[in-house]
Amino acid sequence: MSQSIEDLTTLLKGKPEFAVTEPEPGFPVIEVTTPVSAGTVALHGAQVLTWAPTEHPPVLYVSPKAKMVPGQPVRGGVPICWPWFSAHPEDPSKPSHGFARTRFWELLSGDVDGKVVTLVFRLVPDEETKALFPHDFELTATIRMADKLRIGLKMRNTGDDVYKVSSALHTYLSVGHIDRIQLEGVKGSHYIDQLTSAEEEDVYQEKNLQIKGEVDRIYKSMSSVLIRDLDRHRSVFVDKAGSRSTVIWNPWKDKSKSIKDLPDKGYQEFVCVEAANAGTDKPTLSPGSSHTIQTVIGLRPLG
Ligand code: BG6
Repeated sequence: MSQSIEDLTTLLKGKPEFAVTEPEPGFPVIEVTTPVSAGTVALHGAQVLTWAPTEHPPVLYVSPKAKMVPGQPVRGGVPICWPWFSAHPEDPSKPSHGFARTRFWELLSGDVDGKVVTLVFRLVPDEETKALFPHDFELTATIRMADKLRIGLKMRNTGDDVYKVSSALHTYLSVGHIDRIQLEGVKGSHYIDQLTSAEEEDVYQEKNLQIKGEVDRIYKSMSSVLIRDLDRHRSVFVDKAGSRSTVIWNPWKDKSKSIKDLPDKGYQEFVCVEAANAGTDKPTLSPGSSHTIQTVIGLRPLG
């Protein structure tokens, strides 16, 4: 269960930058308005749903068929995937992309400093997470909105055993049309093609990427990605830290049709560029240690 609307409103001390809404019963969302941008963040998953600089079209894509149902992932924005990315490595019956995106997080604070608005959320284990992942942890998500959107996920091992995690800040970027975007930043790196499951055989990315079919790749890369959006006459950058892998995903025609919470042609309107720790990039957390993964998203002129 989430904190109540009343508790959240009290915590945010009536600051005009915040409004607490409930688009679906039991599914609180914090609306954030800064002098330079606006966005929304759900308590469920500490998930940024929308964000854009003032007077710009959306930077994030949310499926018009997305469901806001506690316990189910929301298709769009920036789901936090943790403590595993994609299918569980040993047990495919466990939920895809872990449980962080389907739990209610606790809002710890909401602060305003000039043009910068910061929300901090926490997730700690309970019986349900222990059944899926028998370890102690503390996750802290720090979401900062200003002229850029910054999301940091700090994962700390609060137990006394050593474990490995994978994760992703699964960013759905809204684009004018998938046929008219170019992705820069992965050229010259190797990737694992998740569509062929050939984990051992890395593929070399020779050119800048254009999406011309289903793409589901884990790039071994620490570089930023730039999405040149020819229809919207803008570029979107995805910078990152604490991440040696970048996931690029677009389901294309057939898979879009099989995804219930995505319109058949939804694949034309987004590409996922995810700062990740995935594939062979799996940080080890020893007792008391922590790791932080971060992504920063913003707009640039097309250039
Ligand atoms: C991507 C994965 O990150 O997420 C894909 O690489 C997966 O394999 C996609 O299909 C969507 O996952 P889900 O669980 O949100 O439908």
